[in-house]
Amino acid sequence: MPVTDKYFMALAAVRKICCIGAGYVGGPTMAVIADRCPEIEVTVVDLNAARIAAWNSLDLAQLPIYEPGLDAVLQRARGRNLHFSTDVDQAIAAADMVFLSVNTPTKTRGVGAGQASDLRWIEACTRQVAAAAKGHTIVVEKSTLPVRTAETIQAILAAAQVGEDKSFAVLSNPEFLAEGTAINDLENPDRVLIGGNDAAALNALAEIYEHWVPTVKILRTNLWSSELSKLTANAFLAQRISSINSIAALCEATGADVKEVAKAIGSDSRIGNRFLQSGPGYGGSCFQKDILNLVYLCGYYGLAEVASYWQQVVQLNNWQQQRIARLVVQKLFNTVNGKRIAMLGFAFKANTNDTRESPAIRIAKELLEEGAQLAIHDPKVNPDQISKDLAQPPGLDMAADVHGGWSMAPSPLEACIGADAVIVVTEWQQYFHLDWQAIYAVMRKPAWLFDTRAIADGKAALAAGMQVWTVGEG
Ligand code: NAD
Ligand code: UDX
Repeated sequence: MPVTDKYFMALAAVRKICCIGAGYVGGPTMAVIADRCPEIEVTVVDLNAARIAAWNSLDLAQLPIYEPGLDAVLQRARGRNLHFSTDVDQAIAAADMVFLSVNTPTKTRGVGAGQASDLRWIEACTRQVAAAAKGHTIVVEKSTLPVRTAETIQAILAAAQVGEDKSFAVLSNPEFLAEGTAINDLENPDRVLIGGNDAAALNALAEIYEHWVPTVKILRTNLWSSELSKLTANAFLAQRISSINSIAALCEATGADVKEVAKAIGSDSRIGNRFLQSGPGYGGSCFQKDILNLVYLCGYYGLAEVASYWQQVVQLNNWQQQRIARLVVQKLFNTVNGKRIAMLGFAFKANTNDTRESPAIRIAKELLEEGAQLAIHDPKVNPDQISKDLAQPPGLDMAADVHGGWSMAPSPLEACIGADAVIVVTEWQQYFHLDWQAIYAVMRKPAWLFDTRAIADGKAALAAGMQVWTVGEG
């Protein structure tokens, strides 16, 4: 088909979508698009064959990610107009619109290591789009990217266009979903952001979202504002958490209660009451990497003061995680060597199996370094993942005096048998109402509860005989 015909078809309506990257964003986002737009064929592709096989698994418990409500959406759309495949070229060639939803972690080597985003996966899949696309293709940045990345994408695509029967438009459409609430966030977004300067492409993407999102919630900006808005949103959210965690430490020192302070300030409509929950520091794959990227960009543009302002949000977060691990050691008579410690929760937040940058990792590593024997419980995290995160296989050695060990416990109560302390790290619903009498009975005395989320029934634990430390409680 000549380019012009395909171009005008793209203007009329998008019929086929390809999404590169079947991860925590690509999978749920495309599932909801396919569910809400039954006339559009959506194919999600990935280099990782095991991940694609898991997305195609008939046993929904084998899906590669745990996300409440995802199974119901998949059951409606998968096999109808939602497909998961490893044939990347074919899906690109067939598509009118290609979403780039690949990983963009922090660089670990070279210029900008430890701060800048590693764009090698974005570049690789853009080159693949450039080579495999046919006719007119709208390329949508779904990954979170440094501001002005669209320039790079456009340059790679433009080079492929020369002398070829193909053309491209580039849009930015960052994703604001949070893990654990992804399906609800996608079905009822606060806003959808689309950046770009090609009106036909903007309309084509807006039309997809208009199947279920009110038009007033679809914001249109230029490319750079869209890219920067995503980094800024995450920086502002993370900043609130570091702010409340800094005040939690002051509450502990002064007798104030951070929950009461959060309620008092959150009642001011200018501040708002969300994202004021003090905890073990934020985790997840986004906040740290996106702020570090912002810091890098500020430095790159010569804005040293702005860079150090945002850097402090990350530093406070690191400090909060470390301070909790050290406080546990200090309360347990300054040694945890050979002591069993129950750790409740390993995911970075409730309702996900994701452990990326989980505060549990840093806290566990600090305790292992001190020789602790950790009994870890988490309803969704797989022990293989914990082995990778802690860089050591499971295995307890109560006689160890060199390095700590860990094992998986089938229930919170079993984790606590013979333990000197129990640390609540993730706010899973089942940890809100634990049987503290039963737990206290199986622990070694004095028995400690360290509640890093302020969710456990501290009064019941105290009444049972436990010593209790709760984040932010003076
Ligand atoms: P992820 O690691 O779960 O998934 C990325 C997938 O891309 C992987 O499965 C990987 O195999 C695949 N991939 C990489 N290069 C490829 C290539 N050339 N061809 C085919 N597949 C390729 O990552 P994620 O959590 O889904 O995040 C993706 C992007 O979305 C990141 O930029 C992230 O910052 C952003 N984001 C994430 C979230 C979140 O909550 N996880 C929310 C908003 C935005
Ligand atoms: C975040 C953003 O919320 C989302 O918009 C973006 O698209 C991706 O990054 P996510 O990391 O999945 O989402 O979860 P989020 O709910 O933001 O929680 C991040 C971390 O902050 C978690 O460790 C969570 O426990 C912690 N948190 C959150 C707090 O400690 N206190 C709060 O009040 C809120």
